Amino acid sequence: MVILGIETSCDETSASVLEINKDNKIKLHSNIISSSMDIHANSGGIIPENAAREQTKVIIPVINQALKKANKKINEIDKIAVTYGPGLIGSLLVGVETAKTISLATGIEIIPVNHLIGHIYANFIENSEKIKFPLIGLIVSGGHTDLILIKSHNEIEWLGGTFDDAAGEALDKIGRVMKLPYPGGPYIEKAAKLGNPNNFKLPSPLLHTKDFNFSFSGLKAAAIREIEKINLNDEKSINDISASVQEAVTKVLIKKTIIAVKKYNAKSLLLGGGVSANQALRIGFEQEIYNSDLNVSLFVPEKQFCTDNAAMIAVAGYFNSNEVNWKDINADPGLYFDLT
Ligand code: KG4
Ligand code: ZN
Repeated sequence: MVILGIETSCDETSASVLEINKDNKIKLHSNIISSSMDIHANSGGIIPENAAREQTKVIIPVINQALKKANKKINEIDKIAVTYGPGLIGSLLVGVETAKTISLATGIEIIPVNHLIGHIYANFIENSEKIKFPLIGLIVSGGHTDLILIKSHNEIEWLGGTFDDAAGEALDKIGRVMKLPYPGGPYIEKAAKLGNPNNFKLPSPLLHTKDFNFSFSGLKAAAIREIEKINLNDEKSINDISASVQEAVTKVLIKKTIIAVKKYNAKSLLLGGGVSANQALRIGFEQEIYNSDLNVSLFVPEKQFCTDNAAMIAVAGYFNSNEVNWKDINADPGLYFDLT
């Protein structure tokens, strides 16, 4: 089966063509990503209307480029998998309406995909044969922090999530106060490598609660209070605060996720979302799994598949396939997990 994936939930515009054979072996033909990050870097954050305006310009060229690189014509595509939520309404509409138009013109069926599930399925692009159920998925992105249990494809249970800021959102907001470039996450990681986490004491909220929920706004407020006391040209303090922030975030993510792995006897642990590109988080998980003597395999997507991309949407669409007539698909910015 040949799938065209389309992803436009935030500031990226991405299209991917991948082929999956009967043994579920995946061959990625193309994964084109166009980002309007440069525009947002100047404003210190995403301005939704600017993002959507850029996306209307690039969506068709990006799809054409993905088809061309894959050496496929549109009539060789079997299904279109498109992100229909959550995300920015204007951005989502660009992808969804483009998919609907192609479907109307060609008769190719559409699989609507939840962007958050896409982040976890990014791991299947390269490891579909190795991943075993039940699995625990930790989504850590700019907009979301969620823990999910996947018993099998199509059997997804939400365990918990953040009450307020997402992990990436907190990093980006702290980064902005420290005058780091946008988005702050990768720059905090870079600074943290040179810093000492013991010089600034910051809270790791909800570290000891027995649920699977998170909260990062208290940490953000505490970090900002410390940043206001320092000179922003004092590189050592910036590095030390970055190290403390990174440690506070990773500590609580690792602790709660490992509790979930134990509780549900997970065979695989899958990270996904932009923050899973963070090396300290990855290494922290490896150490904790080793120290706890757990029989769980950790999977983290390759860096290019951690952040938003259409290949993960195509894979998630394939494994959780529910074709819907184009007339019945609508962008849903507030889409979450079915919590019933
Ligand atoms: O998944 P993503 O591309 O977009 C959303 O769906 O939100 O995630 C973007 C987030 C940003 O908050 C960014 O700062 C963070 O991922 N991020 C990182 C790293 N690379 C990206 N955070 C920490 N360390 C990194 N290396
Ligand atoms: Zn995302």
